[in-house]
Amino acid sequence: MRVHKIAAIPADGIGTEVIAAGLEVLAALAAQDGGFRFDVENFPWSSDYYLKHGYYIPEGGLEKLKTFDAIFFGAVGSQHVPDHVSLWGLRLPIAQGFDQYANVRPARVLPGVKSPLTDGQDIDWVIVRENSEGEYSGNGGRVHRGLPTEVGTETVIFTRVGVERIHRFAFELARSRPARHLTLVTKSNAQRFGMVLWDEIFAEVAVDYPDVKTDRELVDAVTTRMVLKPKSLDVLVATNLHADILSDLAAALSGSLGIGPTANLNPERKFPSMFEPIHGSAFDITGKGIANPIATFWTAAMMLEHLGEAKAARQLMKVIEAVTAAKIHTPDLGGTATTADVTRAVCETIRMDQAASV
Ligand code: NAI
Ligand code: MG
Repeated sequence: MRVHKIAAIPADGIGTEVIAAGLEVLAALAAQDGGFRFDVENFPWSSDYYLKHGYYIPEGGLEKLKTFDAIFFGAVGSQHVPDHVSLWGLRLPIAQGFDQYANVRPARVLPGVKSPLTDGQDIDWVIVRENSEGEYSGNGGRVHRGLPTEVGTETVIFTRVGVERIHRFAFELARSRPARHLTLVTKSNAQRFGMVLWDEIFAEVAVDYPDVKTDRELVDAVTTRMVLKPKSLDVLVATNLHADILSDLAAALSGSLGIGPTANLNPERKFPSMFEPIHGSAFDITGKGIANPIATFWTAAMMLEHLGEAKAARQLMKVIEAVTAAKIHTPDLGGTATTADVTRAVCETIRMDQAASV
């Protein structure tokens, strides 16, 4: 029996609702005789926890997390804590501390889901986001606070090591897909240092991947291409900030922010990787029981894949698609189903699969 140690960090808002749903689905998968089970530990680190204790991650917390095979993360963000405090208190220390430099964000229009684009079926992308440096390096400062002369700086850091490894990762990923097409997204007309470094290293790495077709696009232009010529894109590689924005657009174009999954990978597997829906804690729908859990289920499928359970990952994706095709949709997709309805449908389909295969 393969045992996968999962650290669940639901954290805030709908994060707690969708992670609970995700764990139910993982339990249903493990209940089949697939030869694996999960050993799940729940971590209470959240904004409420922070307001009570003064920290998100207690001393020794990251050390403890290191002993897990994967982290299943909800969302962090509260109306009672500034967003930069919550993000830097919980999610970024894990992503940066565990060198999860490759953030992988697939986008596809699932069966039965309507894209705001007329022919949403044309969307089948993976956005590769540099996840360790760039605009979110945390390098900057504030001086002369409150004075008319006040200054705030936010210095973007690009290192050769950081840029080269994300490009290699993106090329490998592009190579594994049928279209074998990688688009480099930068802004090297206006930003003539770090972004030009990105372009140059991309060209250097491309030499090792003659089988991958490449092109480049400026980040502003790529937004129009995503909307007007979605079929012309396959894998995109972009900086931390650019890909953060593009992947929200990608999720919306594929039907809802409630669908988009993401994996924060440490490809060398020196540290555990972290899997989370791309959405945040969604104050407007927290506690209503209507959060779309599909992003989290798809995220769970990515986690299974990473854990070496490719068969279960494929099965889960098929089940998710059967449920979206059956129009069991939460309100963000125009339906009336609750989180629990969608979760029940997914779990029941898994059990029916099991019954059919016995
Ligand atoms: P958000 O993603 O929480 O919500 C944006 C809109 O999308 C809302 O209308 C929300 O109801 C809807 N939405 C999001 N997920 C949904 C789902 N699963 N089902 C149905 N509808 C869904 O982004 P927002 O409002 O900018 O941020 C809220 C809080 O979340 C902030 O504190 C922010 O810092 C935090 N945040 C945290 C993230 C993380 O932990 N990785 C990512 C993004 C935001
Ligand atoms: Mg984002």
